[in-house]
Amino acid sequence: MKNIVYMCSMSKKKGAKKSIKPKRPVLKVKAPVPPVAPPPEEVKIKETPQPPRGMRDIMPSEELLWNKVKENATKLATAFGYGYIETSILEHKALFVRGVGGTTDVVQKEMYSFKDQGGDELCLRPEGTAAVARAYINHGMLNLPQPVKLWYLGPFFRRERPQAGRYRQFHQWSVEILGDPHPILDAEVISLAVAFFKDCDIPVTLEINSIGCEQCRGVYKEELRQFYGPKQELLCEICKVRFQTNRLRLLDCKEPQCELLKEGAPQITDFLCEGCRDHFMRVLEYLDESAIPYNLNPHIVRGLDYYNRTVFEVVPDMSGRKEKEKEVVQGPEGTIPPVEPEEEKATLGAQSSLAGGGRYDGLVEQLGGRPTPAVGFSMGLERVVALLKSSGKIMVNDRAPRVFVAQLGEAARRKALTLWHALRSEVPVAAALSKDGLKAQLEIANRLQVRYAIIIGQKEILEKTAIIRDMEAGIQEVIDYSKLVAAIKRKIAEG
Ligand code: HAM
Repeated sequence: MKNIVYMCSMSKKKGAKKSIKPKRPVLKVKAPVPPVAPPPEEVKIKETPQPPRGMRDIMPSEELLWNKVKENATKLATAFGYGYIETSILEHKALFVRGVGGTTDVVQKEMYSFKDQGGDELCLRPEGTAAVARAYINHGMLNLPQPVKLWYLGPFFRRERPQAGRYRQFHQWSVEILGDPHPILDAEVISLAVAFFKDCDIPVTLEINSIGCEQCRGVYKEELRQFYGPKQELLCEICKVRFQTNRLRLLDCKEPQCELLKEGAPQITDFLCEGCRDHFMRVLEYLDESAIPYNLNPHIVRGLDYYNRTVFEVVPDMSGRKEKEKEVVQGPEGTIPPVEPEEEKATLGAQSSLAGGGRYDGLVEQLGGRPTPAVGFSMGLERVVALLKSSGKIMVNDRAPRVFVAQLGEAARRKALTLWHALRSEVPVAAALSKDGLKAQLEIANRLQVRYAIIIGQKEILEKTAIIRDMEAGIQEVIDYSKLVAAIKRKIAEG
């Protein structure tokens, strides 16, 4: 009864009109008072917080490298007719449990998953193929002309043990082709991965294998059971479990004792059914035709369960790597010091795979769609950037400013902002609008190595002119403000 208060509706104000309605008591029910949450404990931070382990900031000094990688990826994907797709970063956890496989390391140990306020089991996406397959079904892409070719680039999250080249947040560039089983498409996606590294001048080796279909894999798994069964005790602790749960992954293990054992293990290509063998042979023929060299590697099995038939990885080819003269890589904020050979080894550490992929003909159906053959790959961009950085090759920043706008006085400062906008579509421009002195501004212009500085002061504002200063020759000329943009454009074109 504590929350219920009775009030009389009768007005007590003088002169107030009498209500013609019968006077009835109004029942007001007070909402129950919610329990008061204790005030948040004061967070006493003595040191500045660091990013979570395995996560890193990408800084302006790396901008040039990242831009190059992203531009190469975008150019290749669009040249080959792939449409851009961006799926959500948060997904239902069940998508990956069903799509990637409940016994995989990614699902068992590495997903950042949580229950949200509404009780949904969500996770940060650990990979993109299952999400693309989901989107293919959700958006009815099977009604589009097949195959559907898609590409994406973005961050992914896996709670792995961080190492050089292995992060908990990393970026992938991926392409996927859905809706066509033809082996030429396996060769097409592989050719894109290879072309990317060629365009970046990174020597790589393609490792390829076929893991067959469910039928031939069943026969092969039995062969593995017979081979490893008597040797179980020699396996590492993780592989002892894998022997029971995911026998193919025994071939993937990098522990020395398991490496030794797998040398004598039966090879899946000896157990492929006719259809899978024919598919694989044709993929290899197409690669031969495109002059793409490959290593047949029976130990490539991939760590995600959705694969069948063709599987491949692209690894750095260090064999032909000459010790090139280390040159300075130019960046928008100055220079990136070249990485020394010792450091170079550390950039990738034990992480040799630059890209990986394969065919996944059953995934769409497994997620509730119609049977839809598909093939694709993903490339780890942190690893590519690390290799580019260590290569010491000169990288020209074609977005580096060529012109600097300097101003003196408040009226000129205002004009300078407008001028910056007027010029930016014609040529990369820089300015330092908050600076007052001309000397300080020209020093910045020098540091940015621009060819021309445009100077506007009080006098130029009054006379509707501007000064163009050739920073190399030290010559200045006064020009009509109305002709300024055209004049700068002409000068830049003349070099
Ligand atoms: P994945 O082999 O798990 O395949 O990853 C592809 C690439 O992402 C690897 O080769 C590696 O370069 C990079 N990568 C993976 N984990 C990390 C990490 N922790 N730190 C840095 N880089 C990493 C997939 O993700 C499949 N979705 C590929 C695919 C697409 N298959 C068919 N279509």
